[in-house]
This record gives sequence, C-alpha cells and structure tokens, in this order.
Amino acid sequence: MSGDGLFDVSGRVVVVTGARGGIGGAVARGLQSRGATVIGVDVEVFDAGSLTEALVLDVTDAPAVERFSLRLGKTYGRVDGLVNVAGIGGSHPAETFPLDRWQQVLDTNLTGSFRMARSLAPLFGAGSSIVNVASTYALRAPYVLPSSAYAAAKAGITGLTRALASEWGPRGIRVTAIAPGHILTAMTQDRLQRPDYLEPVLARTPLRRIGEPEDLVGPVVFLLSPASNFVTGEVLVVDGGWIIA
Ligand SMILES: NC(=O)c1ccc[n+]([C@@H]2O[C@H](COP(=O)([O-])OP(=O)(O)OC[C@H]3O[C@@H](n4cnc5c(N)ncnc54)[C@H](O)[C@@H]3O)[C@@H](O)[C@H]2O)c1
Repeated sequence: MSGDGLFDVSGRVVVVTGARGGIGGAVARGLQSRGATVIGVDVEVFDAGSLTEALVLDVTDAPAVERFSLRLGKTYGRVDGLVNVAGIGGSHPAETFPLDRWQQVLDTNLTGSFRMARSLAPLFGAGSSIVNVASTYALRAPYVLPSSAYAAAKAGITGLTRALASEWGPRGIRVTAIAPGHILTAMTQDRLQRPDYLEPVLARTPLRRIGEPEDLVGPVVFLLSPASNFVTGEVLVVDGGWIIA
C-alpha cells in the first residue's frame, strides 16, 4: 500500500465471484490481505481461508443472487467493490456447438456479471467500483481451440462494462474490465500443457511467459482503489503483451 493511500483498498467491502478458482481466489486473497473485507462466492463449496466470508452462490440463479444482495445489505449496509470473475469455457466447432452449452457460457460469463451488478446496485454508492473479467479473446479471435460462445460472452462483457459505466457514472460508480491473457489455472492447464497450444502463445508473448493468477491482483487493486478514480468504461489488458504482437 502506498503512503498516500492512492492504492488503498482497506476497509472496502468487496464481493468476488468465482472465488474458489485460480484468478478469483488470488484476487480475493490479495484484496483481503490489503485490508479489504472480502466476501468470496462460488458455485462450488470452498474454504474461506483468510477471507471474511466464503459463500456458495450460483451467478446464474437470479433469486439466489437477489437473496445474497439482501443479506449483504443487512450485514454490511453497502458494497464498495464487485469483481465478477465467475466464468466457464467451452470449445466446439461453431457448426456443432451444442446450443445448451452456448446458453450456459453466455448465462454464466455475461448474464452472470449483469445479474450480480444489477442485484447489488442498490448497495453501490459514490466511489464504488465494479471490475468485470473479460479476456483477450474478447478483443482478438481465439485460435487453435474454437471458442465462439466464450468469445461472444467476453466481448459482451466489454460492451456491458461501457454501458454500465455510462449509466452509473453520474452516481459516482465506476465500471471497468480486465482482459487476462493466458493464465495458468484449472480452466487452462490442459491446453497450456499442449506444445501445439503453448509454443505459439509463448512465441507471441513479449514477456515470454504464461501468467499466474497473482498477476491479476495489482490491476484489480488499481481499478478498485482511488488510484483509478477517473478511469471508467475501460478494458485493461493483462497478458504479457500477447495482444500487441
Ligand atoms: N485462465 C485464463 O487464462 C483466463 C484468461 C482470460 C479470462 N479468464 C477468465 O477469468 C475467470 C476466472 O477463470 P480461471 O482461469 O480462474 O478459472 P477457474 O475455473 O479456476 O475459476 C472459475 C471459477 O468460477 C466458478 N464458477 C463457474 N460457474 C459459476 C457460477 N455459475 N456461479 C458462481 N461461480 C461459478 C468455478 O466454480 C470456478 O471456481 C473466468 O471468467 C475466465 O473466463 C481466464
């Protein structure tokens, strides 16, 4: 934390979805260790560890998300930060992409982020900050593995981010997104072990490495803290430079 509080997130009440996962877990722990009160949620049961709370919540379950918002209101009275990390993938050629999986990918990644933001909206106030997790595949075509639903959902998140930033900006609420590149987690470990996938990625990444979940902590701290007070609607790419090459 800097001496002048520029990157200070202490005392902020922050909800992190997908907190059992690689990126969500690292971000939740990173915020908590910097003094935030972190309520981590995930569709799967997980251990709270250092977090203030660890709750089961399915971001595709609208009534459950509404109940969660009411509970947050009663317990904390406000929410200063929401980090929408929960997400799933799915790779199929477009011609044979199962439509039920397409709906699930959209419902979890895109509508799940909207559902969370909308339900928690009464708890946000001036200074609150929402960070959505998009992907470099929102901004560049996925290659090697065909991933039309994922690319569409993540591109949708960048549009949703701009729309909410515009709607809620006058209330002092900021809405931004991060677009991670290739980060080693349960979601990606299989493909990142395949040389035909990994080698072209590394060759095209100026920093010549795959990301760790912890690489996302600093960007999220920045976007939740006063350091980014005049930043909204933006998508911050965190990918070791893959996208520029
Ligand atoms: N790993 C990467 O390279 C990468 C790159 C770009 C974007 N992302 C995005 O980052 C986010 C986190 O991915 P990760 O790599 O840490 O994967 P992960 O699988 O480790 O974590 C995802 C978490 O989301 C949870 N989740 C899934 N559906 C849910 C639901 N309906 N409600 C609540 N929680 C749910 C899972 O249980 C899991 O804990 C995802 O949105 C993913 O699309 C990841």
